[in-house]
Amino acid sequence: MKRIITSLLFVSMSIISLSVKAQVSQTPLKIDLSVKGADVQPTMWGLFFEDINFAADGGLYAEKLKNYSFEFDNPMMGWNRVEENQANGYTYAMSYTVAGPNKKYIQLKRLNAIGTLGLQNSGFRGIGLQKGETYRLTFQARKVSGNAQLVAQLIGSEKALLGTAVQKQLTSEWTGYELSIPCSETDKNARFRLLIEGEGTIDVDMVSLFPYSTWKDRKRGMRKDIVQLLADMQPGFLRFPGGCIVEGFDLENRYQWKKTIGDMAGREVRVNRWNTEFGHRPTPDYYQSFGIGFFEYFQLAEDIGAAPLPILSCGLACQFNSGEIVQMGADLEPYIQDAVDLIEFANAPANTQWGSVRAEMGHPAPFNLRFIGVGNENWGPQYIERAKAFAEVIKARYPDVTIVSTSGPSPEGKEFDYLWGELKKMNAEIIDEHYYRQPEWFRENANRYDKYDRNGPKVFAGEYAAQSVFTVSPDNQNNWNCALSEAAFMTGLERNADVVHMASYAPLLAHVDAWQWKPDLIWFDNLSAFGTPNYYVQKMFSTNRGSYVVPVTHDNHSVSGQDNLFASAVVDTATHELIVKIVNTAQNSRKINIDLAGKFKLAAKGTITEMAADDLAVINSIEEPQKIAPAESEFEPGKKSLVIEVKGQSFSVAKIKIK
Ligand code: AHR
Repeated sequence: MKRIITSLLFVSMSIISLSVKAQVSQTPLKIDLSVKGADVQPTMWGLFFEDINFAADGGLYAEKLKNYSFEFDNPMMGWNRVEENQANGYTYAMSYTVAGPNKKYIQLKRLNAIGTLGLQNSGFRGIGLQKGETYRLTFQARKVSGNAQLVAQLIGSEKALLGTAVQKQLTSEWTGYELSIPCSETDKNARFRLLIEGEGTIDVDMVSLFPYSTWKDRKRGMRKDIVQLLADMQPGFLRFPGGCIVEGFDLENRYQWKKTIGDMAGREVRVNRWNTEFGHRPTPDYYQSFGIGFFEYFQLAEDIGAAPLPILSCGLACQFNSGEIVQMGADLEPYIQDAVDLIEFANAPANTQWGSVRAEMGHPAPFNLRFIGVGNENWGPQYIERAKAFAEVIKARYPDVTIVSTSGPSPEGKEFDYLWGELKKMNAEIIDEHYYRQPEWFRENANRYDKYDRNGPKVFAGEYAAQSVFTVSPDNQNNWNCALSEAAFMTGLERNADVVHMASYAPLLAHVDAWQWKPDLIWFDNLSAFGTPNYYVQKMFSTNRGSYVVPVTHDNHSVSGQDNLFASAVVDTATHELIVKIVNTAQNSRKINIDLAGKFKLAAKGTITEMAADDLAVINSIEEPQKIAPAESEFEPGKKSLVIEVKGQSFSVAKIKIK
């Protein structure tokens, strides 16, 4: 009997939930197609890149070997000595024996010809190798004495030999060598060995291992899978190189773009500021090789069709750290000169001082830089003073370059208000705002920009991400609750496209075994990468940017949380589409009725791309990279309306051709 009651209960509950499914929303929406709202800037949705979480070295940069040039403070970090089966010999890390930024190299000395002697590199939390791929090994070497040769080996996690190559002859002058090593097995956690065979002494430096297959098959290139995920977003801009990394924990540690261009031997390796930042995630082996330097950032931006947005130190080190400050006047001049030279490096003809450096690096055409950022998350009168000094010089020389200023680390409060007030007085062009807040904040602030001055500076929502626990908590998750809340907030950014000209999630990339900061948009290990739910939300906005906003209203108000709904809409003049974005934070699915006003003809069918989950805690992972991902379906419109069925806890993009 009890069982019958239970199953009856179950049946009646199913009926209730079925009828809930068919429910039409009590919040009919209206889109007036005769009202052309703000233009959506081509830069509206973009990317924020920072070398945090092994995003560059160990991530986007396809180099397999850590500390390839022995320039870490501990020159042997990442390398182990191999001495097996009675081999007899030495390895020395030589310090400061040559001038310039590439100061150190290694000496391998063999005293007998038996056994195995050399070095082993463990990569960035292991080395990812693919079966059938060939790897390009390059190194500098010179023979000091004897007739020893160098042997390179790819070693699997079970110690199997997966590939090998030999360099027999070596000259006594420093010479660059290149070997190809085909790999026989896929392995996520392989090792690389550089062995010395025979008897003798060899000096070695800049030992580098890359797959031949990189993004655009460039030598020393980027990981194809990661760049593809970025390119798929069709981003409007690429901000680089960060973040706090721009500022440094002191001025010496700030990002200095001139040291990141040209030949690798001239790019000074330095400790990454995220190496020591968090007690809960110390990463002593995190350095910057600058294999991805400013040239490569510009090139990446160009490859993926994004406007480059470099950001430079304003002469104030991170105010959460040392807050070291450059005095105004002559001391600040080199910092301002760096900005001016950067514009020349990016834009000036190949016969100019800095344009010629770009041309020599393989890009005679300009990179078309239109934006430059001055300072990151700086605050106080010290920032304003310095921002003014930068603006004066940059605007006098390059009036068409738009300056992005910062409003500090917090999206509200005394410092924020002060900076906005001062920047407004300066006629600042674009102001960078950051918000790392709980999901509720994002939903509650979806109308944030409805209230902004339409004639004031424009906004760059430069860093944001919903934090499932609290900012910098190691327990933060890229879950659906966070992504859905960001989607709700982003409808507010879109609706206010006259004020908000740029927006980017942050941070962008994270290695699953080497992160410092969570959440992050894209995660990867040594072989594969996946997009989080947040990634798909970003992508659904950026690939459906449209040309101008059309108002979506309920009772003449913007749709910003009433009845658990958030909505915005744009028209795409190139594809002749109306694109409507709807976030339903209610648990139940429902039919949203959208009345359309204006003169137009609708196509017979439209498409809906939808992401939804009953479980707000759902996440993607290396094992289940698409556990939550967008799905497409079709819908048929009414004559002058759209009736769109959206799932519970969903984000939908509905598109239909209009004439
Ligand atoms: O995105 C991580 C960090 O958060 C950035 O470096 C900084 O700008 C912000 O505080």
